[in-house]
Order: sequence, then C-alpha cells, then structure tokens
Amino acid sequence: MKTLHDYLRSTKIESSLIELVELLAETGNKISHLVRQGALANILGAADSQNIQGEDQKKLDVIANQMIKDTLINFSTVAAIASEEEDSIVPANSTGKFLVAFDPLDGSSNIDINGQIGSIFTIYPRLADLAVDNEAQFLQPGRQQLAAGYILYGPSTQLVMSLGKTTQCFTLDESKSTFVLTNEQMQIAKDTQEFSINMSNQRFWSEKMRHYIGELILGASGSRGKNFNMRWNGAMVGDVHRVMMRGGIFLYPSDNRNPKQPAKLRLLYEANPIAMLVENAGGKALNESQSILTIQPKALHERVAVILGSANEVDSCMSA
Ligand code: AHG
Repeated sequence: MKTLHDYLRSTKIESSLIELVELLAETGNKISHLVRQGALANILGAADSQNIQGEDQKKLDVIANQMIKDTLINFSTVAAIASEEEDSIVPANSTGKFLVAFDPLDGSSNIDINGQIGSIFTIYPRLADLAVDNEAQFLQPGRQQLAAGYILYGPSTQLVMSLGKTTQCFTLDESKSTFVLTNEQMQIAKDTQEFSINMSNQRFWSEKMRHYIGELILGASGSRGKNFNMRWNGAMVGDVHRVMMRGGIFLYPSDNRNPKQPAKLRLLYEANPIAMLVENAGGKALNESQSILTIQPKALHERVAVILGSANEVDSCMSA
C-alpha cells in the first residue's frame, strides 16, 4: 500500500506544495495522538475563553489551533494563515507563496463526548500584489484553492484530500505514524435516501426548505415516492465523511434565528475546502443559489448556507 509520501511524489504536484500538505498531515497526526489520549492528556473541557465569533472555546480548540499555527508560521513557504480561532490573519513569511486557512477543531461539541471531530484546511496561492498582512489575500473564491482536506479523528484517523481533480482518502497507520492511501478516487453516489440536517432549527428555515425536508419525511407516501433516513453528527467532518462514503445530502441552510448571522458555517475554512472535496468526488456543493466555490468572499469569517452531497439529491433540493 502507498504511503501519503509515496503517493504525493507519484503526482506532478510541485514539491513545495507537497511539503506543505505533508506538514499539515503530520500536525494532524500529532493532534490525533492527543485526541486518542483524551482525558489522560488533560485536553477535555472548556478553555474559559471565546473566539472573535463569540463562540465558547474548548481547550482542544485552543491547543489544536496553537499546534497548527506554530507549525505553519515557521514554514518558509507559508505567507500568512487564517483560522476560525484567530481574530484576524496572521502574517508569516514575506517571501512565502502559500496562504493556509483552517478550522483547527471542527465539531467542538463532540470533544467531551468522545465523538467524531476533525481539522479542516485549505491552501490558496499568495497574491503577489498584496502584502502578506493584508486580509484581502484570503478573499479569493474557492475555485482558487490549490489543495483542501480534512483529518477526521474517528475510530480510525483519516485524511481526505484533494490537490486538484480528484479526492483521495488516507488512513493513519498508528504503528508507523504514517498515512496510507486507502481510496485513490472517492466517488459520491449520485442518488441517496439519507439526509443530514439539524431538525431543531426547522421553524427558522425558509418556507422552501421546510417544504423540501417535509417531503423527505413523508417518504414513500409523499411526492418523492421513497423513504429517507436521517443522521446528524454535530460535526461537519463526520457528516460529510458519511456522505463521501455512502452518499447523502448534508444541509446547514440559512435561517432567521439571528438577523446578524443568517447562516452558521464559515465560507473560508469550512465550506470552501469541503466543497472542493465534494465536487472532486462527483458531488455538488451549493449555497442556496450558486456553487459555493464561485462565491466571492467579502469577509474573513463570513458565513454561508451549505447544501452538499449526492448530485441528484442536491438538484432535487434546489428545484423543490
Ligand atoms: P465548530 O467549528 O464551532 O465546532 O462548529 C461545528 C459546526 C459543524 O461542524 C456542524 O455541522 C455544526 O456546527 C453543528 O451545528 P449545530 O450546533 O446546529 O448542531
């Protein structure tokens, strides 16, 4: 079986990008080790702080953020980083050619219950005409991503990654501390009978979304003529991984709970990298009107509605 190292070197990807991806995988490996230790490593519980988005931070959010940040800002090809847990961008090396954005720990509410969690990352080219401390560096549409991936800390640790046209899955061999290629070309089933949404927000959705989900629930007795099952993990990485493996539709639609925050998931370091992985595995990823990857970002921590997964089901949702 091919290791991540061997796989990357068998591609035509430029070596500096390969080295950066390997560095992110290595850091994910270290975070995975801590996650496995759980209470024994004193990483559970609250950090008694909030991020810029007003969310309570968990200890592991802060630890994982520091680990990824320290690793990246000392790497010569990295120009700047952005993170869910950092108020603004962090400049790194003025001669660097890559920008890295990440959600260090996705699914924070699963940390203390020993549930699935993960890290999400994306790599963009640095814009030559802007200084490395200029936030506009990161306001590039998702189509500009050079690479994207997530590391899922589940019963096994897996790296799902795309460097362009396809999406691969690697599994961590803990005995050798190495990621091994276990699926060279992930393919999301076109059709599905499984959906994933936080139903407790139903009353805040648009009429159109309520109608679409209502028809899924009616199943064989409604207009869809087939039954649907539902799964909700509470961590996007876990829900998306299920969709990657056996198809499905994942939705975090816009809602009117809080007028200042019409959607929950972040465009830069959650929606865009996941959308790249999904599209390169034959799925679709949209907000409520366009492909997520075509959205022109306006702010670093911008939020966006997300509807992704099995292509035919995403189409059904859009035309509902
Ligand atoms: P965070 O990055 O703060 O852990 O947010 C998790 C996200 C995403 O992973 C998940 O799909 C969603 O929030 C869960 O939201 P609910 O609280 O509505 O279940």
